[in-house]
Amino acid sequence: MWQAEVRIDLDAIRDNVASLRAGTTAEVMAVVKGDGYGHGMLPSARAALAGGATWLGVATLDEGLALRRAGLDVPVLAWLHSPGLPLHDGVAADLDLNAGSLEMLDELVRAGRRAERTARVHLKIDTGLSRGGATAAEWPALLEAAAKAQADGEIDVVGVWSHFVYADAPGHETIDHQLAAFADGLAVAERFGIAPRYRHIANSAATLTRPDSHYDLVRPGIAVYGLSPVQGETFGLRPAMTARARVALTKRVPAGQGVSYGHTYVTERETTLALVPLGYADGVPRAASNAGPVQLGGKRRTIAGRVCMDQIVLDVGDDPVAAGDVATIFGPGDDGGPTADDWAAVVDTINYEIVTRFGSTRVPRLYDGAAGTEGSATATGDGGTAAGGPVNGGDGGSASVAGLDRDAGDGGSASVAGLDRDAGDGRAGRTGEVDMGGAS
Ligand SMILES: Cc1ncc(COP(=O)(O)O)c(C=O)c1O
Repeated sequence: MWQAEVRIDLDAIRDNVASLRAGTTAEVMAVVKGDGYGHGMLPSARAALAGGATWLGVATLDEGLALRRAGLDVPVLAWLHSPGLPLHDGVAADLDLNAGSLEMLDELVRAGRRAERTARVHLKIDTGLSRGGATAAEWPALLEAAAKAQADGEIDVVGVWSHFVYADAPGHETIDHQLAAFADGLAVAERFGIAPRYRHIANSAATLTRPDSHYDLVRPGIAVYGLSPVQGETFGLRPAMTARARVALTKRVPAGQGVSYGHTYVTERETTLALVPLGYADGVPRAASNAGPVQLGGKRRTIAGRVCMDQIVLDVGDDPVAAGDVATIFGPGDDGGPTADDWAAVVDTINYEIVTRFGSTRVPRLYDGAAGTEGSATATGDGGTAAGGPVNGGDGGSASVAGLDRDAGDGGSASVAGLDRDAGDGRAGRTGEVDMGGAS
């Protein structure tokens, strides 16, 4: 029996990528950094590749190396490096690495020498975000150095790229300005003899709304996981993550009863309280106290009182809610239940942060669907999934993830990265490792 879980619909990830792919002539780089926005980097990557992605994008060298250790051999771009990292490991692992400054280019040249291999480099131009990348003023010097290193056979300039400021606000003036600056940057690159095979700037929002930004490669992240980057639009995407828990207990209390720390909620009349075992250690923002929406007993409720580390309380009135009933924090919203977007609105953040928080906690992460799983052809049960191995989904319909080679048992699910213990009744928790597939 289970207490709380985060379920990931791998088929939704695959289908979201397939739909992004269908909307462009460019190749698709699925961005799987941040543990796949909380969905699990490796299963998400595999599902995205099954949907037609041909590249993977990550922020850090370690994320890129973890993809390689798991046996994923598609092109991978890693873009955020402080000085002094073992970038030669990245070059040796055939990762594409970003250079947005002369200093980083120099590091990549040295990394290539040390790895005895030509470093695959993407030169980044800052077209207005003022984050990574060379400014327009710095760009010619970076190009000059890159052209020389390329002529010397030390690097291969695979890409020239940039990143949008505000593509999630279609029509915002920065979009056209950045596209113009990117085109200028490419023209300058050409003057230095640099004609990269991949020019890329489009994130999810631009992939969905600005075909003129697609160039040779698009880099969607949030849309891969079925969430929209643009408020009020779904683009037909399907949210892949559901967070839910089973009620731990219910109790009748009188009118005037204060609830949870600080008694910031007081019952108006005699009522039933339901205790839901998920708290801020699991991803529920404390800022959602007295505000977060939860689906329970076929109705949307609002959290009563403070969000605690491990639990929240719902006031369900006289509804026949019982211990063991399932409370859904968010999901695809099919049954009128809350979505990650609803949560983002409540705590004044973005859906990205909601799913990333929920995916990176002690709550077991379980996988539904077969996309990208080697064992999918043999998965059993009512839609059961065996991600990455011959795992029997049992009756519950799903099992995961890469590297598992045991029966998911009666619960029909097991998870996830870096497992170091028995799944028991068919479930296994996480150790917090990014790595999967037995690689570490
Ligand atoms: C450089 C870069 N490219 C692409 C993405 C994907 O963005 P989105 O999730 O908005 O599609 C990100 C994510 O922040 C990023 O940092």
